[in-house]
Amino acid sequence: VTAGSTLPLGLRVAGRRVAVVGGGPVALRRVSALVAAGADVLLVAPEVEPALGDLADRGALTHAARPYAPGDLDGAWLAYACTSDAAVNARVAAEAEDARVWCVRADDAAASTAWTPAHAHTGGLTVAVHAEGDPRRAVAAREACLATLEREPVAPVRRPASGRVVLVGGGPGDPGLVTVRGRDALATADVVVADRLAPLALLDGLPDHVEVVDAAKIPGGRAMRQEEINRRLVAEATAGRVVVRLKGGDPFVLGRGYEEVEACAAAGIPVEVVPGITSAVAVPGLAGVPVTHRGVSQGFAVASGHVPPGDPRSTVDWDALAASGLTLVLLMAVDTLGAIAGVLTAAGRDADTPVTVVRDGATSRQQAVRATLADAADRVAEAGLRPPAVVVVGDVAGLAS
Ligand SMILES: C[S@@+](CC[C@H](N)C(=O)[O-])C[C@H]1O[C@@H](n2cnc3c(N)ncnc32)[C@H](O)[C@@H]1O
Repeated sequence: VTAGSTLPLGLRVAGRRVAVVGGGPVALRRVSALVAAGADVLLVAPEVEPALGDLADRGALTHAARPYAPGDLDGAWLAYACTSDAAVNARVAAEAEDARVWCVRADDAAASTAWTPAHAHTGGLTVAVHAEGDPRRAVAAREACLATLEREPVAPVRRPASGRVVLVGGGPGDPGLVTVRGRDALATADVVVADRLAPLALLDGLPDHVEVVDAAKIPGGRAMRQEEINRRLVAEATAGRVVVRLKGGDPFVLGRGYEEVEACAAAGIPVEVVPGITSAVAVPGLAGVPVTHRGVSQGFAVASGHVPPGDPRSTVDWDALAASGLTLVLLMAVDTLGAIAGVLTAAGRDADTPVTVVRDGATSRQQAVRATLADAADRVAEAGLRPPAVVVVGDVAGLAS
């Protein structure tokens, strides 16, 4: 196949019938992408990979559990022949040719009327590469494109009046633990309003024109600061900018994210939420502590310790937590650890219950202190361990060595 003998196109398959014949690993790859693109997939195969069967059970595609039969391409805009039987693939391709339906044959590129490029989506861009029938070269070229885009992001051309806010959960601090969608949102930002515990290393990769606002520096007293952040988000978006609010962990886990959503909604600003990996689960995990473990803990509760037990402002029922049998994951609890441990043991939790405190998780400064409820506050003080830290109380905290 010579250069230029294919015509690259982006097919908008949403709501359109695509017939896939074959239910093996190749079909799994193609079907997953088709379903994600919203295609009306008819999957024809007597047996399918479990994940394909699951998609069928969930109504994401139609599965005809039988061998291919002529007529299966009726109404299809596109066909995939991905069985392990070349003769069947050839029959599918022949029907497609007669019906003028583009057909991708998994086993024979030369006999295909359409090729699947090596492709990826990043930062609102789709990269798709054909390499004259050399799929490995196509994959290598795609990776080279992605690496270049990572180093030198290409900002979108401005659209007027596109002001909006994207609340991005940045994960526990390591830039490798932000989601792909979160990175994509950053690539479209005009302004990034970043929290202290967000993965700040990502800011280094932003194009020069992007304004970075350190939310910790926004003026106002403790109570005012959130209002000031809300006000700034609304003001920037009202001025037509795409504002990424880069937060630590998940925006809705003790992160005041919903207050920001409400402020935007009240001002009529469109707001999108990109969930993040919460430190409540990730930080213990990075220190080798699973928050659940079969036979040890069937669940976990996350609570903030910033208001100590007994304080009239506290809404946490510590007695109920003590009796719950759940792993307790406490954020903002370094300074209140002694008081919390006292309340939990007074309410019946064993003083020998293992406790792990992990400071600065997902950074090079990560440090874990292992203790029990009886001595956790002392161990933390001895180690000089300061916030931010995640405290895990429960038998799972004793699993890691
Ligand atoms: C205001 S809360 C925000 C939590 C965040 N929304 C989340 O889902 O992770 C801040 C607290 O999260 C915990 N935290 C966040 N990042 C952390 C990290 N990298 N290491 C340890 N603790 C962390 C600490 O308890 C810190 O005081």
